[in-house]
Amino acid sequence: MKDTQENLLSKAKEVSKNAYSPYSDFPVGACILYENGNIYSGCNVENASYGLSICAERNAMSSAISAGEKTKITAIAIYSPKQKMCLPCGACRQWLCEFAKNENIEIILEDKNEKPAILKLKDIFPYGFKFDE
Ligand code: THU
Repeated sequence: MKDTQENLLSKAKEVSKNAYSPYSDFPVGACILYENGNIYSGCNVENASYGLSICAERNAMSSAISAGEKTKITAIAIYSPKQKMCLPCGACRQWLCEFAKNENIEIILEDKNEKPAILKLKDIFPYGFKFDE
């Protein structure tokens, strides 16, 4: 698992190089692992109308859905060259809540130490909105 965590983080780092972030100058990359082993990446894409910008995490989740992914998320790595521990915004946390296998999924972030920080979705987003099942 350690290898997968570092692998996901290095893929997030790679895709952050594709970010379109001329307004914030804050590139972000995300790489998501699904239950069946599939991996999808995304970067942030900004717009001159700032509010229309989309985060790396939601772009990665949209790519997965567009590619026909039917399984759930088990882990996500997020990386910005501008900031260690680049946490997902509130909107992306709610999106993760929609597609996560469960609330124990791992949020993998670059830490100040050599090894990545691993957080749980339930700890950073404990009361997400869901329709009654
Ligand atoms: N951003 C992400 O893509 N993901 C995050 O986790 C934090 C913020 C983007 C949005 C915007 O393009 C830029 O980073 C600065 O907020």
